Amino acid sequence: MADVVIRELADFPQWIPTISAWYHGEWRDLLGVNSAEEIAQGLAKWLVRDAIPTALVAVAGEEVVGTVALKTREFEQFGEAPWLAGLFVVPQHRKSGVGMQLLRAAEKKAVAMGVHKLYLYTPCAQRFYQALGWQVKQEMTLYAKPVTVMEKVLQPHNLFQTPPARARG
Ligand SMILES: CC(C)(COP(=O)(O)OP(=O)(O)OC[C@H]1O[C@@H](n2cnc3c(N)ncnc32)[C@H](O)[C@@H]1OP(=O)(O)O)[C@@H](O)C(=O)NCCC(=O)NCCS
Repeated sequence: MADVVIRELADFPQWIPTISAWYHGEWRDLLGVNSAEEIAQGLAKWLVRDAIPTALVAVAGEEVVGTVALKTREFEQFGEAPWLAGLFVVPQHRKSGVGMQLLRAAEKKAVAMGVHKLYLYTPCAQRFYQALGWQVKQEMTLYAKPVTVMEKVLQPHNLFQTPPARARG
């Protein structure tokens, strides 16, 4: 399998239909949308490099295999911001670290833009994020489905919760 590198979605606008189809397949109920085309219209706003909203893609050879975004708004019931959203890896590239690579890159990008705290919501990947230093903030309901709102304080030293070295003795 080709090495996976993380790039800006802004460099690859041609992949918006592919990513929209992934999101439609995975989250259409939670997004409250009717079609992948409707999602694509929203994704066009992510073609930004150094401000939020923005998105990253995981690229293997010539192919897009995953994505993640930073957004200013997520859902109305919850006023905090900004949000990490849309973390997705294609099934054939899962369980080889691409999800973590994308998450790490998005957190780093947020730090570089001066963000101190990020939020996300997830219907089912709470344990994945907890393993990477995210904490549960609140349980909520979105379009009649339970979701977990999570948060992470982003300081360069705790991006991946590496425990500080301790003096022995
Ligand atoms: C969640 C997702 C992004 C993980 O991508 P990935 O490339 O497989 O992740 P990594 O290889 O970096 O990490 C895999 C680890 O995460 C764990 N993991 C993956 N999905 C998980 C989930 N839903 N809940 C708990 N743990 C999960 C795996 O078990 C694995 O752990 P292990 O290394 O101890 O076996 C991917 O499964 C995906 O796109 N799922 C569909 C969309 C989704 O659920 N997005 C999350 C936000 S809602």
